[in-house]
Amino acid sequence: MRPKVLVTREVFQETLDYLVRFFEIESNQSDAPLTPAQLANRLADKEGALTTLSERVDAALLAQCPQLKAVCNIAVGFNNIDLKACQAHGVMATNTPGVLDDSTADFTLALILATARRVTESEAWLRAGQWSGWKLKQFLGTDVHHATLGILGMGRIGQAVARRARGFDMTVLYHNTRRLSAEVEKSCHAAYVSMDELLARADILTLHMPYSPATHHIIGAKELARMKSTAILINAARGGVVDDQALIEALQQGRIGGAGLDVFENEPKLDPRFPGFKNVALTPHIASSSEATRRNMAMLAAENLVAALTTGKPPNLLNPPV
Ligand code: DGY
Repeated sequence: MRPKVLVTREVFQETLDYLVRFFEIESNQSDAPLTPAQLANRLADKEGALTTLSERVDAALLAQCPQLKAVCNIAVGFNNIDLKACQAHGVMATNTPGVLDDSTADFTLALILATARRVTESEAWLRAGQWSGWKLKQFLGTDVHHATLGILGMGRIGQAVARRARGFDMTVLYHNTRRLSAEVEKSCHAAYVSMDELLARADILTLHMPYSPATHHIIGAKELARMKSTAILINAARGGVVDDQALIEALQQGRIGGAGLDVFENEPKLDPRFPGFKNVALTPHIASSSEATRRNMAMLAAENLVAALTTGKPPNLLNPPV
């Protein structure tokens, strides 16, 4: 008998073709997000799960899934998974690091350019049929080239953003819980500064840290007040690292130049005030969503699941071996 696994959301056919070689699969290809009760019900007889950030894996769920041995997230972020609860229930948890760094960094540059050069705002205006002719002062934006880019969170994705910034002749400053080696700093052409200095000097501040209690609202009212009134804030990391209410107040009061946001608190519910700001570019959590990268993420998660249930040693294990 092959182990039973649940695929919680729609995945690519090749992901299913691979998994079916090892497992008996139940797959939610209809893609409707499962409620906690539906998830518990479907996982009750499963040994493994291929999950996404829309499923919460916590002690309450795990208590109802006695056979579960592995939860493999199709995401590098894993704030939807309670690792302590997994450990307590003997469940391996994995993520998909590495495969989405470049696509997410590319998209970060897209958000920077869209916000600074008013791409989404002017496109919406054009589509609405409002263009009557070229004007010298039409949609004056902010230059990205030679601007000072502040990167908060300098892991793989932050470093990939820094390398791209070089092509725009930007000055790159960063702050991170740990300072990088001199060699890595040199390869990224990035200078380490304090959080205070980062906030004060950045023309564009971009965030690249995981969400955790330690990073909850790492950008709040106090931090926004330290930023230049012309500065642009970019968040393609996670909702919750920015205090959305504080950001909205800063935008309302003109205390910040603009924002490029791919992630939000309470996703997928968008605070209705965000679309009202012309100086905010909005996208629906798609920073890693190139076709190739999403395929790679799904396949890496599937490989983690196969390794977890066949060898007990998945390559991207997040919790200590159980
Ligand atoms: C991740 O990998 O954490 C992304 O946010 C998923 O899109």
